[in-house]
Amino acid sequence: MIILKSKREIDMMREAAKVTGEILSMLKGYIKPGISTLDIDSFVEDRIRHYNMIPSFKGYGGFPGSACVSLNDEIVHGIPSKDRILQEGDIVSVDTGSTYRGYCSDAARTYPVGQISDIAAKLIKVTEESFFEGLKYCMDGYKISDIGHSVQAHAEKNGFSVIRDYTGHGLGKNLHEDPQIPNYGKPNKGPRIRSGMVIAVEPMICQGDYETRTLPNEWTVVTEDGLLSSHYENTIAITDGEPELLTI
Ligand code: CO
Repeated sequence: MIILKSKREIDMMREAAKVTGEILSMLKGYIKPGISTLDIDSFVEDRIRHYNMIPSFKGYGGFPGSACVSLNDEIVHGIPSKDRILQEGDIVSVDTGSTYRGYCSDAARTYPVGQISDIAAKLIKVTEESFFEGLKYCMDGYKISDIGHSVQAHAEKNGFSVIRDYTGHGLGKNLHEDPQIPNYGKPNKGPRIRSGMVIAVEPMICQGDYETRTLPNEWTVVTEDGLLSSHYENTIAITDGEPELLTI
């Protein structure tokens, strides 16, 4: 069931999302070779709490961190660890959210660590572009599958593939609500997009094949072929039939 949000609820989600977006911007200047994935998690959690908000991810389904920090072939749900040290040439995806008065937000970026390869840089760029291709359909008059259809077209045109096993989603009082928003598929299917929806669109794009595997820690999801994966996500409110990017 899709829960539409009132103007007042979207106002609270806007507050939460602004903090999430700002923290992800700040991380650009923080991420460098030599820090651990736990350092990133602490950076994120400290700043969320500085704004008197609650990390949306902490304890969600038992997840230990405030951010999912996923390196290289890790697609999503990387567990922050003091023993995972960023190396020059890595790419690192950070997925996080802050909660304000019970309302969640959710966004992700993939960052270069120092100098990275051309293919890694292209993957990050195409993932971000594919989000903005999808965004063109986040408005009244389209259906949910139109988003993923355009994400997939852009990723594949550039020689990459789209992760199938994880999708975008609605959100509100819960971090994950209906509808599911796949990043691939045929257009003109699924629920109609309408004002009051708040959704997280989150392409996960990979260098090789889209098959995934979950590590024995039961969280971290990696590409089966060990090739790179990139993630880009924002929380979007549909207001007056148009998309409003809340986490940028
Ligand atoms: Co999400």
